[in-house]
Amino acid sequence: MSKRVAIFLSGGGSNMRALVRSMTGDHPARPALVLSNVAGAGGIAWAGAEGIATEVVDHRPFRGDRAAFEAALAERLAPHAVDIICLAGFMRVLTAGFVTPWRGRMLNIHPSLLPRYRGLDTHARALAAGETEAGCTVHEVTPALDDGPILGQARVPVLPGDTARSLAARVLEQEHVLYPLVLRRFAEGDRRPVMLP
Ligand code: GRF
Repeated sequence: MSKRVAIFLSGGGSNMRALVRSMTGDHPARPALVLSNVAGAGGIAWAGAEGIATEVVDHRPFRGDRAAFEAALAERLAPHAVDIICLAGFMRVLTAGFVTPWRGRMLNIHPSLLPRYRGLDTHARALAAGETEAGCTVHEVTPALDDGPILGQARVPVLPGDTARSLAARVLEQEHVLYPLVLRRFAEGDRRPVMLP
């Protein structure tokens, strides 16, 4: 039976779209849910139009009460009988209370070559540090931010004249290749890291 995948996002969801498009044919997983903390997230409209179940849990009414927000997330998630969660531009930090029960079943994509540049503004920080290469990482989610076993990385060169924006665009293209590749292997039970190119 296919694995059921929930994808969590906060924005346009280009990674979500790459994941959804990949889950066809003999792929061992299928999209079961797209969930966002932002009602107007472009990815929610797209997923709804594709006929995928969607849920929105706005974090703002919880006023920083992460435990209550995460309880609401868990409640909305439960009916969808999900096997794997893919975080794809989900801009809320999840605490151990949510993460621990999903240990080994939740992935994240981060736009840097972890363990370098955890957190935000990765491209600007990589440029400021004079890096000659950048990239993205898919990893298992653990309670520590942007940590957890690495399942795959894709590298791109930093080019002369790069801005955070141009570098982000080059990395994002690779995110769309790497994340579907890793998810497919992960859904098949293969956790050996993939390194691209
Ligand atoms: C991606 O760069 C992802 O790595 C980061 O947030 C961005 C989301 O982009 N965590 P999108 O919503 O998938 O287009």
